[in-house]
Amino acid sequence: LNIQAPKGTRDFYPEDQRIQNYIFEKWKDVCLQCAYTEYEGPMFEHLELYTGKSGEEIVEQLYNFKDKGGRDLALRPEMTPTLARLVNQKGNALRKPCKWFSIPRLFRYERAQKGRLREFFQLNMDIMGSDNIWSEVDLICSIIRMLKSFGLNSEHFVVGISSRRLLKSLLDQRNINSPASVYLALDKKAKIGEEAFLNLLENAGLNEEDRTFFQNFMRSTNLSEVKSFCQSDSSLFALDELNQLFQALEALGHGDYISLDLNIVRGLAYYTGPIFEVFDRAKSMRAIAGGGRYDDLCSTLGGQKMTGVGFGMGDVVLKDLLSENGLLDDLKTPKTDVFVAAFQFDSLQVFSLCEKLRNMGVRTGSSLEPVKFRKQLEMADTLKSRFVLFVDGEKNDGQFYECKDLSCGEQLFLSLDQIMEIINE
Ligand code: HAM
Repeated sequence: LNIQAPKGTRDFYPEDQRIQNYIFEKWKDVCLQCAYTEYEGPMFEHLELYTGKSGEEIVEQLYNFKDKGGRDLALRPEMTPTLARLVNQKGNALRKPCKWFSIPRLFRYERAQKGRLREFFQLNMDIMGSDNIWSEVDLICSIIRMLKSFGLNSEHFVVGISSRRLLKSLLDQRNINSPASVYLALDKKAKIGEEAFLNLLENAGLNEEDRTFFQNFMRSTNLSEVKSFCQSDSSLFALDELNQLFQALEALGHGDYISLDLNIVRGLAYYTGPIFEVFDRAKSMRAIAGGGRYDDLCSTLGGQKMTGVGFGMGDVVLKDLLSENGLLDDLKTPKTDVFVAAFQFDSLQVFSLCEKLRNMGVRTGSSLEPVKFRKQLEMADTLKSRFVLFVDGEKNDGQFYECKDLSCGEQLFLSLDQIMEIINE
């Protein structure tokens, strides 16, 4: 019997789990710093929460099944429908706007490849019940803050911004009623080249004039160029919204981190306003994060009309990007503060001191078995301990202990309080 982990899943050995914990901690820190509050939901939902609302691609990727009671269920492929359900259930009892975050484990039956797995984690940050553009500003600032907290900067990533509202209003302006196929063409344009792009538009039913319109529109590199394509109130509204967003982010000093990117359309069906995706600068990886505003998801799922805006950031691409830039090297080994060693190993003596240090909040390790002194030092090294404390050092006087600072090799004579102070410095 040789059973392997299912395709597209990961095992988290201690080194991997350490990295995972680090990513989650940073995510949480920044969410709390930006005043988002955490929620969770079930890992599986009724199938119909996803069918028809999230878009074709994600429905094709569902892990769905019947339970023993014959109910159609699906493992969650994304968190946004669950969030909308939670918000709908509480209705007016919730104080709006809600700034909520969650770190769900998600499942998508995708072709497993670099950056895309069948089981992954995704930070979700969403604001429900605020149609103010400053919600987008808040979310994009949080993304930038978060990625910077991992040691990344504007040379590593960029937040590309576009607008579903703008695209939809331009389609309406030209009486084109096949938005899904046009979005697909726009989405693919960068990968397939101009000619194939025009073919896709033709297949979507666009006449030559419309095709040229979109071809030229996609060449715009800034919002003033985009303006020449906007002839309807709704397209001008969408443009104004984007202008406000860019101005605010630039005024907050984030100009280097953002760019207009009309290739972004987002795969999910429910977006209605500004949309954004985060990419590595070289665009050599899949998106690090993606999101946007969705006006109708809550009402389509049976609730009141309520706007939401948010994004998802997966752990897979982020981890690849951090690791390629050497930003995870420090986590390769576990870390303890103190390793208690003994020349003549007396387990009770060693464990008593360990307990004392742990009570003081010091991360402390020791050998579990009476092994040779040299072996104990090797263990201290593996655990990357800052200090080795000799429990039976000759000079020990009950208050001060012989110890060695492994960061510089110095032999010291310290009390437990002094050790704690140095560690907390
Ligand atoms: P999404 O674009 O499907 O959006 O996913 C967002 C991010 O999750 C991606 O940019 C990527 O980092 C990660 N991701 C997606 N699929 C996979 C996969 N198979 N393996 C690894 N990582 C993956 C959503 O899910 C929206 N619900 C986000 C959102 C929240 N919109 C509003 N609020």
